[in-house]
Amino acid sequence: MENIKNLIAVASGKGGVGKSTVAANLAMALAKEGFATGLVDTDIYGPSIPTLFGCENVQPEMDGEKMIPLQKFGVKMLSIGLFVNEDQPLVWRGPMAANAMMQLFNDALWGELDYLVIDMPPGTGDIALTLVQNLPITGALIVTTPQQLAVTDVRRAVNMFRQKEIKVPILGLVENMSWFTPEELPNNKYYIFGKNGGEKFAKDNNIPLLGQIPMVQAVGDSNDQGTPVASLQNHPVSLAFDELAKALVQAVDLRNTVLPPTQTVRIDPNAKGCSH
Ligand SMILES: Nc1ncnc2c1ncn2[C@@H]1O[C@H](COP(=O)(O)OP(=O)(O)OP(=O)(O)O)[C@@H](O)[C@H]1O
Ligand SMILES: [Mg+2]
Repeated sequence: MENIKNLIAVASGKGGVGKSTVAANLAMALAKEGFATGLVDTDIYGPSIPTLFGCENVQPEMDGEKMIPLQKFGVKMLSIGLFVNEDQPLVWRGPMAANAMMQLFNDALWGELDYLVIDMPPGTGDIALTLVQNLPITGALIVTTPQQLAVTDVRRAVNMFRQKEIKVPILGLVENMSWFTPEELPNNKYYIFGKNGGEKFAKDNNIPLLGQIPMVQAVGDSNDQGTPVASLQNHPVSLAFDELAKALVQAVDLRNTVLPPTQTVRIDPNAKGCSH
């Protein structure tokens, strides 16, 4: 892990807002910028990166006990979804799932990376907590959609990262599905989920708004085809992800210059008393 310069957690309090879409396209955009980039899918119960990357049936090779990440779109990738049957529900209890998730980091040959983008599961459950407590996360990128309901759930995720035992810096917010644009009317914007909910949340919570991604059919279609929109040249949403990647790199640089390096918070499993 010491060969990985920056660990970026893509998170949200709410399901279905586009974490996996943002994580995959962001990783691809960072790779296009020339950064050595990895993408790890920690959504143990609902892994979607293998589908997004069109790698559902490809099992990673092993080097002894270590997994070798797959490579596609210039990005190294690992997901629990590569090791389990798609139709088989994962019925692991929390600790088992958390162990499997940690193996994706500790038992894998990631090599030297500038960025390892982490696609997190929705919410603030076991997996999310294990992740933030055991890994030296550089910072979190929070994903929301503009509706008030999504924004309310996102506040929970922000508060988790900001807890004093966790203290992972929030690098910024990205608003996904900011407006709907029909393919045939590319200049039209329909604010079907309300306008600027993300911008207002960012301002109220002192978080930089790093990007707004429109809702367009091509994003869903290209996800389903295993070729995320960032692989298309000059598509407006692909360009929006390029901008997001640039804004994220700036936010990371700023964080690395103004704050001391992240320290991993470890909770001593043998501690008996209550400590602060
Ligand atoms: N900007 C967009 N335009 C159109 N469709 C989108 C956009 N972003 C995401 N989607 C679609 O919305 C659905 C949910 O996206 P995604 O799986 O990335 O969300 P998620 O937050 O990772 O969900 P989960 O909480 O289940 O992990 C997917 O079908 C995806 O293709
Ligand atoms: Mg997801």
